[in-house]
Amino acid sequence: MEFKYIIYEKSEAIATITLNRPEALNAFSKEVINEVLQALEDIRTNEGIRVVILTGAGEKAFSAGADIKTMKGFNALKGRELSLMGERLCNALENFEKPVIAAINGYALGGGLEVAMACDLRLASERARMGQTEINIGLIPGWGGTQRLTRLIGRTKAKELIFTGKMIDAKTAEKLGIVNMVFPAEEFREKVRQFAKELTLKAPVALKVAKALINKGADMSLDSAIALEREGIGVVASTEDLQEGVSAFTEKRKPIFKGR
Ligand code: CAA
Repeated sequence: MEFKYIIYEKSEAIATITLNRPEALNAFSKEVINEVLQALEDIRTNEGIRVVILTGAGEKAFSAGADIKTMKGFNALKGRELSLMGERLCNALENFEKPVIAAINGYALGGGLEVAMACDLRLASERARMGQTEINIGLIPGWGGTQRLTRLIGRTKAKELIFTGKMIDAKTAEKLGIVNMVFPAEEFREKVRQFAKELTLKAPVALKVAKALINKGADMSLDSAIALEREGIGVVASTEDLQEGVSAFTEKRKPIFKGR
């Protein structure tokens, strides 16, 4: 597959999608989004790939958000179109049936942070800076930020970040629960890869069902969500991988999961 705005690599059961417009701090244009969606479709149908890493090219940015330069002469219809474009990407990541890790190597601002929040896990370099900075250009978060950030960290802090448009550093983001872990910049890529590698060894169907339950259950009553979990465990209980996991446990060896 040929791409112009992303780098798409596959190795050791990990697919890495690198946003590749470093001259614009990896800002998302329609073309970037379409290429990421194409790569995701390729990964979806590739049984050999178990985990996705989404990151940014260069040392400076994961992504500085939606492309501000395309907003000149904006109107209601174009604003709605921009929102739909980001929603498509965020929904694809959130509903993707394999774990997606956002490797936040630098700035994750506006739509950049919103895309990272649609991923399952966020690992940050200590150099990373994050913020819902849209207010500074007279805009609001338009790719789910008012909702995903609030669900992640609660209304009090979400309002503070969205109203002030301030950037926070990686350690603050970790304390708030926006990122899972922070790694030193010089070993960041290696640490992310090690983390992803660990996930490739877990049972794929169990990961897929756990992800769906956590995501869907968050918007349901506890009773309904627990009923859904019961159905989910029914699916996982019927996998060959569960039998492999149980055998490996009793035989005191590491399991080899096949995603069946
Ligand atoms: N869109 C388009 N281009 C962008 C961009 C963006 N979001 N962010 C940075 N760039 C471009 C700059 O225009 C610059 O290009 P030129 O050299 O051609 O002018 C290049 O990337 C490097 O940026 P800077 O020179 O500004 O770099 P800096 O180190 O001085 O500052 C920064 C870095 C603080 C991140 C600054 O670039 C910045 O504030 N960027 C905007 C961040 C932002 O507000 N993002 C939200 C976008 S709106 C959005 O995402 C809406 C939504 O909810 C979907």
